[in-house]
Parts: sequence; structure tokens; C-alpha cells
Amino acid sequence: MVSFLSIIAQAVPRVSGGIRESKRQGPNRLVFAHFMIGITSDRHSSSDYDDDMKRASALGIDAFALNIGVDPYTDQQLQLAYDSAARNLMKVFISFDFNWWNTGQAFAIGQKITQYADKPAQLMVDNKVFVSSFAGDGLNVGSLRDAVGRPIFFAPNFHPSYGTDTSSVDGLLNWMAWPNNGQNKAPSAGQNVSVADGDSAYVNALAGKAYIARPRFIEIVTWNDYGESHYIGPLKSIHTDDGASKWVNDM
Ligand SMILES: *[C@@H]1O[C@H](CO)[C@@H](O)[C@H](O)[C@H]1NC(C)=O
Repeated sequence: MVSFLSIIAQAVPRVSGGIRESKRQGPNRLVFAHFMIGITSDRHSSSDYDDDMKRASALGIDAFALNIGVDPYTDQQLQLAYDSAARNLMKVFISFDFNWWNTGQAFAIGQKITQYADKPAQLMVDNKVFVSSFAGDGLNVGSLRDAVGRPIFFAPNFHPSYGTDTSSVDGLLNWMAWPNNGQNKAPSAGQNVSVADGDSAYVNALAGKAYIARPRFIEIVTWNDYGESHYIGPLKSIHTDDGASKWVNDM
């Protein structure tokens, strides 16, 4: 059993030197942290992201997975985050949150990827634009690739346990870094999907493709999702979206 914290403990030494080492070795093994753009809507300058970028880089994190919904401030915040990353030797990529995007939007998602693909801070893996998600089972990956019109390394958070066809992806993110009941709720004695069980399901479905959870890719969930209590960065942007600040502030 590998706990979430021991994953971090193992991950950080493995990329000691962080971006410097991964630049030297090429983007083979990378560490990501999930970053909620949905709670940083009140930032006004790219320098507002510098502290996060510097801290993450110093920890050996190679890239932030920028989780986006469809809020009116999304593009402004993405722009600021990409600019700050470029200045601070970090990489970033978009992670589409399918609580807000829907699986019928392959074309719009493709356009959003294209909009940011040429920015200097965009994470490229194997010379492809790296893209991920939260959920999104059922998205037509072929349509998405057509809409982008250039190679993408698509590693979404699809769920093999839902029976999703994962043959069209390049990798998968497993979000479940904790025991659960198989339905995104706390486990019970009778319904307990361990982290190891979840790993096996993903590793079997991937059959050798890239897995975000163990090398080749590790993703820390999360950098700043204070409202869900699984964050490793400093608590500094108050929640503007769901009121979770009311209990998380001053913790
Ligand atoms: C679920 O399993 C994990 C080990 O995989 C264990 O640590 C935890 O206590 C179990 N939870 C319940 C409610 O049985």
C-alpha cells in the first residue's frame, strides 16, 4: 500500500533538481500538481502566480495541471498562469473539468487546447501538446484530436471501472489517491476500493501506456483545492466559487 504522502516523499527525491534535471533528461518522468483555476478568479497580474510557480518548482514539481471550468474569468486566469510559468521555469497544461465541460464539446475543447498550445510554458511530451482532465468518460477522443489538428498527448481522468473504452488515449490520470467505496464516497467495511485496487484497474486498462499516479507521471492532488482538504500549497487564494473558505480559512 502506497499512501498519498509516501507518493510525494518518493516523488520529490526522484526529480531532485526539479526542472533543471528534467530538462537535462528530457521530459520522461514528470511530476505534476493539480491546480484549481476555479478558485483563483481574483488574480489580476501574472505576478500573482509567481509564488506558486516558484514554490512548486523548488519542490521538484515540473508542471501544474491547470483545472478549468467554463467560467468567464477562465481565459484571463489561464493567460496569467501561462505567463507566470514561462517566467519561473515551470510548465503548465490544461486539465478540463467535466463537472463543467460536457462530453459533447470535443470541438470547443479542441479549440481551447489550440488557443494555448504555442505558449512557451505549455508542457510538451514526446513533442505533443499535453492535455488532461477531471472525469470526461464518453468524450469522443477522435473528434477531439481532429479539432486540435496537431498531435496531443491526451491523458484524461477516464475511469476503466466504468467500462470506458480507453484505447484512444495516450495515458490516464487516476484521481483516487485514497480508499473509497467505488462511487467517490468514503469506504465502508463492505465496499472498500483500496488505492492498490484502483491502481490495478488502471494499470490493466492501460496495458503499458502512461499512467499518471506512478512513474512515468505522478500527479499530486492537489496544490490548492483547499475546499476539498487535499492541498499541499499555502492557503492563500480564498475560495470565490463555493464558499468553502468559510471553514478552511485559518486552518
Ligand atoms: C479500507 O481499506 C484500507 C486499506 O486498503 C483501510 O486502511 C481502511 O481502514 C478500510 N476502510 C474501511 C472503512 O474498512
